[in-house]
Amino acid sequence: MCGIFAAVSNEFVTSTLVGGLSSLSYRGYDSSGIVIVNENGLQRRRAEGKLQALSTLLAQNPVEGYIGIAHTRWATHGEPSERNAHPHMTDRVAVVHNGIIENYPDLKASLERDGYHFESDTDSETIPLLISRNLDKGMSPETALREAVSQLDGSYAIAAVFADEPQTIYAARYGSPLVIGQGAAGHFISSDSIALSRVARNLCYLDDNEIARITVNEIGITNAGGCTVSKELKPLIISQQDQGKQGYKHFMLKEIHQQPEVMRNTLNHYCDAATFTLKSEAFPANLSHFERLSIVACGTSYYAGMVARQWFERYACIPVDVDIASEYRYRESPFSPNTLALFISQSGETADSLAALRYSKEQGLTCLSLLNVESSSMAQESDAFLRTLAGAEIGVASTKAFTGQLLVLLLMSLQMGKASGRLDERAERELIQHLYTLPVEMAKVIDEMASIDKVAESLVHSEHTMYLGRGMSFPLALEGALKLKEISYIHAEAYPAGELKHGPIALIDNKMPVVMIAPPGPMMGKTLSNLREVSSRGAQVILISNGSGIEMARQHITQAIEVPETDALLQPLLYTLPLQLLAYHVACLKGTDVDQPRNLAKSVTVE
Ligand code: F6R
Repeated sequence: MCGIFAAVSNEFVTSTLVGGLSSLSYRGYDSSGIVIVNENGLQRRRAEGKLQALSTLLAQNPVEGYIGIAHTRWATHGEPSERNAHPHMTDRVAVVHNGIIENYPDLKASLERDGYHFESDTDSETIPLLISRNLDKGMSPETALREAVSQLDGSYAIAAVFADEPQTIYAARYGSPLVIGQGAAGHFISSDSIALSRVARNLCYLDDNEIARITVNEIGITNAGGCTVSKELKPLIISQQDQGKQGYKHFMLKEIHQQPEVMRNTLNHYCDAATFTLKSEAFPANLSHFERLSIVACGTSYYAGMVARQWFERYACIPVDVDIASEYRYRESPFSPNTLALFISQSGETADSLAALRYSKEQGLTCLSLLNVESSSMAQESDAFLRTLAGAEIGVASTKAFTGQLLVLLLMSLQMGKASGRLDERAERELIQHLYTLPVEMAKVIDEMASIDKVAESLVHSEHTMYLGRGMSFPLALEGALKLKEISYIHAEAYPAGELKHGPIALIDNKMPVVMIAPPGPMMGKTLSNLREVSSRGAQVILISNGSGIEMARQHITQAIEVPETDALLQPLLYTLPLQLLAYHVACLKGTDVDQPRNLAKSVTVE
């Protein structure tokens, strides 16, 4: 969590810093702040709340200079408040930090014993105080920073400016991302590359334990031992599609609409469109050697793993475990040596997933990750990784990354089936041919969902909702319920429809709307029986099904969302769309902040 942006330039930097923070707001948005270095020394402005509060403060109390650091925060240690907002500083150094300093109680005690006083409740303030103590011992800024970071346990991305070296920004990282950009006006530092796109043309990523010394003309990088590291600057390529909202009201809506394109890009990356075959070289070579698959992830990515379990079982005939990362790493389950551990993460930075990956590596498992951010920590630490081709996802509620994950997982299950000889050439061609209809089918579903706002109106005043589905529709129900609760703040539960009678049916009355996901197929009849059970107990049922499913259930439902007839293989991908759109429209009607819902952040780098 937390976003860092810094600039050293030939031009004034305040508006550039605020622009950078605006792009990084998805990483945290409970407070923000900047420090500018100018003729008056280190000048700080901080504000509690969303970035607008800082902009208002800067309009009332402006500050300018050619060098500065900035931060947008998601609170971990210490409540969201101006006092806990970054940058943290002394009169000699100001620091912005992303990460967690695990040994901060010990460091704090030692600093306080030496007379250094904490003004905030944060772990981050340890860093400027450690640096200041080193400066007070007579060290240079660079040595003071190097010594300070050598004392930190945990993870950090840091940018620091010094009163005694007013033309330089220092940056350091261990476990949290940091990228340096070079532009016409100077150099910039950011937590991600997209935030650099307005100001930089080239970039390089800082690696763990490296320290960068950056002036307007130079970038000097050294490793932990102080030796120079030479790094190639690469052109910064951000697709037009990834920039801004492109006319949509919210990033989330834009990202929902981008899904057909994500499917097309994914298919073209992993399949040959001329022969309708998988590109085996796009997958790790030894997939068929494994006897068990252990999928580990958090949140929406975990639900993608739950859907995919059934594909791996069906097409690759491999037993699959699916675990929540924060549980898996403490479970101490026995591993069979031929297990492939598969980690799914949009950001590639999720602390629990990363820790689970490290734990699996220690157990000697082969670790493969499915990631949307190629430069992420999980990409660096996995034995191999597969890419989702979702592009930048800015809306905090995951949409296109989820369907991107689903499609890659489906293709991977087919590749495993192919590699082990269980999937023959004819079946492969037929399945891939069906998948190539996905972009068009998805676009059709999204376009035909205009009526969904009527359904949304019926949910907007509800306090609770229940989502039900069977088979693959159960993890979709979990995902639909998660989308609704995180952006509209309506309590939503999800159950396998068949489990209802074992307890949750007690919750059903006329105040409990039920969203029933019932695609055509062998489970449909049973799901519709469950639908009758809830409707006869007064529930208002919203059925998501095809035309004939809706017809069959007509007397028992209040509303319906029709999904066009489709091949069974495409169902989980297509049935996700009305769930995303329903949550989106309910949130819009409630007037919540769709892209930045309360208490959340996009990249969860704390355990
Ligand atoms: C929900 C959502 C989260 C993430 C979870 C894992 O819409 O986005 O539940 O899926 O925080 O994040 P990643 O996939 O980045 O590991």
